[in-house]
Amino acid sequence: MQLKIALLAGDGIGPEVIDQAVKVCDAIAKKFNHDIIWLPALTGAAAIEAVGEPYPDETHQICISSDAVLFGAIGHPRFDNDPSAKVRPEQGLLKMRQMLGLFANVRPTFTFPSLIDKSPLKRERIEGTDLLFLRELTGGIYFGERGRKDNGHTAFDTCTYTRKEIERLAKKGFDLAMTRRKKLCCVDKANVLESSRLWRETVQAMENDYPEVEVAYEFVDAVAMRLVQWPNSYDVLITENLFGDILTDEASVISGSMGLMPSASVGADIGLYEPIHGSFPQAAGKNIANPLATVLSAAMMFEMSFGLEKEGALIRNVVDQSLADGIVTEDLVEVGAKAFKTSEVGDYLTSKIV
Ligand code: IPM
Ligand code: MN
Repeated sequence: MQLKIALLAGDGIGPEVIDQAVKVCDAIAKKFNHDIIWLPALTGAAAIEAVGEPYPDETHQICISSDAVLFGAIGHPRFDNDPSAKVRPEQGLLKMRQMLGLFANVRPTFTFPSLIDKSPLKRERIEGTDLLFLRELTGGIYFGERGRKDNGHTAFDTCTYTRKEIERLAKKGFDLAMTRRKKLCCVDKANVLESSRLWRETVQAMENDYPEVEVAYEFVDAVAMRLVQWPNSYDVLITENLFGDILTDEASVISGSMGLMPSASVGADIGLYEPIHGSFPQAAGKNIANPLATVLSAAMMFEMSFGLEKEGALIRNVVDQSLADGIVTEDLVEVGAKAFKTSEVGDYLTSKIV
C-alpha cells in the first residue's frame, strides 16, 4: 500500500521524537511491504522564523495532499514570555485543526504493567485503567469571540457550541463506546453553563439510538477528582475543548509519564497524529526526550487512517518490549539504572521490527 504522510516535526523536542517515529514507520513499511512517501513541512515557531507564519499555506497544501499527518510539537518559550506577541506558534496548531476539520481528538489513557509504580497514584487505584477521552477540538472557548474592552482593562473569551458540533462529536463517542465496554460519560458543567446544558440535552436525545450504551453525565470538577480516585471506572469520556485539554493532561499522570500518551485528531478525511506532551523546550536538542508517545501515535495512524491493524499492533508490541527490557529514556528509568537516549530507544524499537 502506498502511504503519503505529511511530516510536521515542529518545535522543541518535536524533530527528535519524530525522527524515531519515522525510523519505526520505515521499518514497519519494509516488513509489511508498504511504500511510505514522507512529505516534510514547516509548522510552529520554526515556520514563523522561516516564513513569518505558524501554519503556512504551503504546509496546508502538503497536508491536504496527504493521507495522514504525523505531528511532533509546537511552542517556544520566546513567545510564552511575551504576551504582546502578535503571531504565536500555537495559532498554527489551532488553524491547522480548523482547516483540516479535525473536530475530534482521541486521547487514550492506559497503564503499562511494567510502569504501574512510576505513577504517583497507588497501584490499586490505577491498575487496569483503559479509558479514552474524546475531546471536541474545533469549537468552544478556543475559537469563540475574544477581545479587550475598557481600554484594555477588561478581557473576554466566549464559549459557543452548536447542536451540530456536539452531535458529531458525541456520535463518535457512542460509536467508540460500542467497540469497547459500552460506557459513555458526558463531562460538562451543566449546573452553571448554558453551552453545557446544550451538550447534555443533545447527548440525552441521542441515547435512544444507542440502547446498549450506558450513559452518565458528570460535572467536570467531579470528574477531575474521580479521575485520580477511580480512573478504572471510566470507559469513554466526551467533553468540550477546554475541559478536554485540562483533563487529558491530568489523565496522563495515571500512566506514569506524559511521554507515553499518544493522540489522534480526526474529523473529515485526513487524520493527524501527535503526542500529547508538547515541545518541552528545556530538553530540545539533548536527545533525552521520550519518543514513545510519538511512536504510539504512529501506531494509531496505521490503525485509524489506514486500517492496518497488524502494523499498529506490532508497534505497540515493540513499545511494550522496550518498557519491559528497560530500554527507556530518563523520565522512566529505574533508580540506579542506565537511561537511554531518544535515538537509542528509536534504534531499539526499529531493531525489534523484523
Ligand atoms: C494540546 C495543547 C494545545 C491545546 C496548545 C499547544 C494550543 O495543549 O494539544 O493539548 O491547548 O490544545
Ligand atoms: Mn493541552
